[in-house]
Amino acid sequence: MSAESKLSTLILILSLVFLYAGCLAFAKQDPELKQCTHQCRVQQQYDEKQKEECVRTCEEYHREKKDRESLKEVGQDPDVEFHPGGELSECQSRCVGLAGEVRQLCLFRCQQKWRRDHASRWEEEGKKQSKEDAEDEGEEEKHNPYVFEDKHFSTAIKTGKGRVDLLTKFTHDSDILRGIENYRLALLVASPKSFVVPNHFDANAIFVVTQGRGTLTLIHEDKRESFNIETGDIIHVRAGTPLYLINRDDNEKLFIVKLLQPINQPDHYEVFYGAGGAKPESFYETFSTEILEAALKTSRDKLERFFDKQGKGPFLEASREQIEAMSSHEEGSKGGGLWPFGSESKSKSAFNLFRKREPSHCNRYGQLFEVEEDEFKRLKDFDLRVSYANITKGCMSAPFYNSRAIKIAIVVKGEGYFEMVSPPVSPKSSQEDSGGRKSGSRYQKISSRLRSDTVFVVPAGHPFVTVASRNNNLEILCFEVNIENNVRYLLAGEGNYVQQFEKEAKELAFKSKEEEVDRIFGNQDEEFFFPGPRQQRGRDYE
Ligand SMILES: *[C@@H]1O[C@H](CO)[C@@H](O)[C@H](O)[C@H]1NC(C)=O
Repeated sequence: MSAESKLSTLILILSLVFLYAGCLAFAKQDPELKQCTHQCRVQQQYDEKQKEECVRTCEEYHREKKDRESLKEVGQDPDVEFHPGGELSECQSRCVGLAGEVRQLCLFRCQQKWRRDHASRWEEEGKKQSKEDAEDEGEEEKHNPYVFEDKHFSTAIKTGKGRVDLLTKFTHDSDILRGIENYRLALLVASPKSFVVPNHFDANAIFVVTQGRGTLTLIHEDKRESFNIETGDIIHVRAGTPLYLINRDDNEKLFIVKLLQPINQPDHYEVFYGAGGAKPESFYETFSTEILEAALKTSRDKLERFFDKQGKGPFLEASREQIEAMSSHEEGSKGGGLWPFGSESKSKSAFNLFRKREPSHCNRYGQLFEVEEDEFKRLKDFDLRVSYANITKGCMSAPFYNSRAIKIAIVVKGEGYFEMVSPPVSPKSSQEDSGGRKSGSRYQKISSRLRSDTVFVVPAGHPFVTVASRNNNLEILCFEVNIENNVRYLLAGEGNYVQQFEKEAKELAFKSKEEEVDRIFGNQDEEFFFPGPRQQRGRDYE
């Protein structure tokens, strides 16, 4: 807030208080002063110093008024002195020739007029100010750099049989997510019975199947690896690995969330299609014809006819027989062995989130499924944990923070909201001034509605909480990067970190008896998932 607008807010407080109190109502234990100082203290946009200042101004004004009052009592004309200069004294100077009561009245009218004029100006300014404030808030909604919605996805590919949507760079709006600028997120949707043509990309990737059934084929240096994939499967795809994919269901779409870590440029990757045709353009065809002729030892016209046949895009319709033939028929189909429990599977490319023996946290209020890097070694390449929270409708997750992991979360199903503690955020343009810290509060509450495909990022150390709507479970897929040596610090419920404080630390920190601290921090005895707030403050979000 600028010095000017601070001043106008202060003037507004003063004027409202005094207008409210009435010009001539002077009480003993002055309620106006009380009202004025109270108004100062509840101004959320003020920091302590500004509140002090405001209170001082109230007191000064009050003192002056008192002085005036006592002058009046002894029959002197205080008002001429009271506001020297400006419109008021000009008006008052016209009263000088008058005498007695008439003069008092004249002075009083000047004062009334002056107050009225200024009051309306203050009011106007006040209105303008609150409008600006509202706009600011709107800006902040827009500039919530942790949350990404539909409009932040661009369509990388779209055909009748499927699409790929790419999320904007995490740093698109703000620098605060620079820690994950080397990641991109994409969503693939393939229609029933479709085939995604062979391609590779210059990024390491983790695919997570969030709905549907398909078969994914990876071409390794010396062998081909095919998996039947289903909801909850996590597949690691090393950069540059050629792959193709089918949706082998007759009715259901196949949804895959991809987290990509580009190799060549920190925040950009390229997809290369080997298949023929103009759409997608095959990289083969980019070479000069004479090179292709020589390399494939085939004549120019044969090559032209060959590469021009396929023109329907990267998602193609496949026949039932083709689907059947490409589906994996291997025993266990995830690379042999007693998948998912066979030791074999651990070194392979896929793992299922839900086929672990049990969720890592589970009660009536929600379930958390997690795959750690040592269970699925391929995640080590990424320093990553994949988890899936299924929060029961009307319930919430425990507030917590990650010590060093950054959470990239995407809502798979349902709706709800989240709240997070953040340092004050401002749009990129105003980040430089005042060290990026707004006067007022040290933290800002970031909150957002969550619904399908909303992506939100929780940086390390930032406490946050997610709440499911009353109508539906909230299912969230999370990638937690930087997971090595990460600690999840629970802020409430069973196992919260305050419970580990020493008695003295509890008493000093909270200025309460240890029993009182224990009562507060021990009252919620559920772990990780709780019944949600009775009144969902995020009603607006539902
Ligand atoms: C989430 O929980 C609901 C209700 O308990 C259940 O029907 C649903 O299958 C769960 N989702 C997953 C992915 O486990």
